Amino acid sequence: MSWARTEQTRFEQDALEDPVLAEAHEAGVRSGAAPVDTAAGSALRFLAAATRAHSVVEVGTGCGTSGLWLLRGMAPEGILTTVDVNGAHQDFARGLFSRAGAGAGRARLIRGAASEVLPRLTDGGYDLVLIDADAVSYPFYLEEARRLLRPNGLVVFHNAMAASPEPDGPLRAPDPGETAVREVIRMVREDESMVALLLPVGPGLLAAIRS
Ligand SMILES: C[S@@+](CC[C@H](N)C(=O)[O-])C[C@H]1O[C@@H](n2cnc3c(N)ncnc32)[C@H](O)[C@@H]1O
Repeated sequence: MSWARTEQTRFEQDALEDPVLAEAHEAGVRSGAAPVDTAAGSALRFLAAATRAHSVVEVGTGCGTSGLWLLRGMAPEGILTTVDVNGAHQDFARGLFSRAGAGAGRARLIRGAASEVLPRLTDGGYDLVLIDADAVSYPFYLEEARRLLRPNGLVVFHNAMAASPEPDGPLRAPDPGETAVREVIRMVREDESMVALLLPVGPGLLAAIRS
């Protein structure tokens, strides 16, 4: 194993030794709310720290894995607003946030469809928006993120490269989720007011800064 791979494994090991994170991850896998992996989680923590995020919106709380990573990178008094349509997932995440020392003061959990919740959130009020939910809605979430972000705020889409079929795999038509992910990548690339990056981390993170 190369030394770089060994270092990467150490990062993953450190995360798995964190009992709250490990529990969130396990519950996400068990309940079908696929959690972010360690590579994507570390990248999210890094991006939240790099942007000194005080206010973050997340679509797709799941059982709390990505939220825990974000909270660890955000400013100590920062608030994570996280939206999920599934109450059972959110109840689990709420318990873990609280055990991680990020109770009601730092995590605002809103139950509901993001299409109904996001339009109620404040324009320009957020430093970072993470999208990790229904892929078919990614283009709509990009429009909402543009409105929610402050200038130089950052939007991140999880699973941005998961849709890419293997080059020598069987030929098949893209499903609606894959089409939507490709559409959102095209939208940010062509938007001259955004600086975008497709990060090959985990199943791919599409990150774009709003000017
Ligand atoms: C992949 S899981 C999120 C995993 C989470 N980010 C983590 O790392 O643990 C996707 C979540 O999005 C939620 N979801 C799906 N469609 C949604 C929608 N339209 N509005 C809000 N939440 C939605 C699901 O209930 C599920 O919990």
